[in-house]
Amino acid sequence: MNRILVTGGTGYIGSHTVVELMQSGFEVVIVDNLSNSNIEVLDGIEAIVGKRPAFENIDCTDYVAMNALFEKYTDIVGVIHFAASKAVGESVEKPLLYYRNNIGSLICLLEVMKAHKVHNIVFSSSCTVYGQPDAEHLPVTEDAPIQKALSPYGNTKQINEEILSDAAHADCELHVILLRYFNPIGAHPSALIGELPNGVPQNLLPFVTQTAAGIRKELKVFGNDYNTPDGSCIRDYIYVVDLAKAHVIAVSRQLENKADTQVEVFNLGTGKGLSVLEILNTFIKVTGVNVPYQIVGRREGDIEQVWANPKKANEILGWKANTPTEDILASAWKWQQHLAGK
Ligand code: NAD
Ligand code: WQD
Repeated sequence: MNRILVTGGTGYIGSHTVVELMQSGFEVVIVDNLSNSNIEVLDGIEAIVGKRPAFENIDCTDYVAMNALFEKYTDIVGVIHFAASKAVGESVEKPLLYYRNNIGSLICLLEVMKAHKVHNIVFSSSCTVYGQPDAEHLPVTEDAPIQKALSPYGNTKQINEEILSDAAHADCELHVILLRYFNPIGAHPSALIGELPNGVPQNLLPFVTQTAAGIRKELKVFGNDYNTPDGSCIRDYIYVVDLAKAHVIAVSRQLENKADTQVEVFNLGTGKGLSVLEILNTFIKVTGVNVPYQIVGRREGDIEQVWANPKKANEILGWKANTPTEDILASAWKWQQHLAGK
């Protein structure tokens, strides 16, 4: 049996990935301490897949518990490591919490993996490592320079990438795939799982859907005086289900020993940049629901524009994010309506 350990598997991207893994025939075990997710996510996964994934409520920084997990599930052949704290603003307020959780989890995981001779890890990294690329580096390839992180959260991603590279350098059996996500949005088409933002959403899409639902009075568009066609910031919004599928391919690549090098890096994006106003207007068009908004000043620390060159992932992984933006935004709205009906 090929079992994949999915840390952070009840979270937003993790839950969608567990669905895709199970639908591709993998056994999984989820490890999550439920610090930013809900146990009911397992019901949603079970309703979609027809089978409940194994779940263990464990903190990834807890070596004893993680070791016991690997003793219990002796069939683990690979790990996808999503578990991390991810709120950029909170990381500025509580940097030590972020360094302890995000770096402590990875170190503990790598130590336990080594002790149990598990040699494959796929890691959730982020386009945040590129900061604001120069014009010559847009769209961003994996070779674009890594820039000094703008937040402790971003720094944990850079440090974790370095830890993984150093660990692979020291252990020729360890295989690492670093996946640098751009901006994941949307929900499973069934609307049985999706993003569960904590409190007031900091990210664009949950704020848009909550405003459309009347939970928030109006969306604040942070700046319309950027050097972009409509003046608002540009990002590469990738459908979470497309993103999840890339993980199945990455894991399979490792298990089939197809990796070209011990550490591989892939940008996961669509290759298309969309502005905040384009997202907003497309959402209104697709759903027919009005979203009151106001243009306000720039948000501190925001990047003006960044989008991916996903050619490497397209060609080497044979993966492409091709869900139309309209369908992605419709899925986000369907999920918001599902939440309202609960
Ligand atoms: P999420 O918060 O929904 O999921 C993370 C999960 O990890 C949560 O369920 C949380 O309870 C769990 N967790 C946190 N610390 C843990 C610990 N010490 N032990 C066990 N479980 C723990 O976040 P997400 O959006 O699904 O992100 C998943 C990963 O992708 C993270 O590493 C994040 O940094 C990265 N990422 C996310 C985005 C994004 O915009 N969502 C973009 C780039 C990278
Ligand atoms: C997108 C755009 C905002 C909210 C952050 C992290 C990054 C990554 C993903 C993990 C920006 C604008 C937003 C609002 C707005 N996470 N906006 N009004 O900033 O690209 O990235 O999440 O690694 O590390 O920094 O995503 O969704 O916050 O913002 O106008 O109420 O929407 O200015 O242009 P961002 P976001």
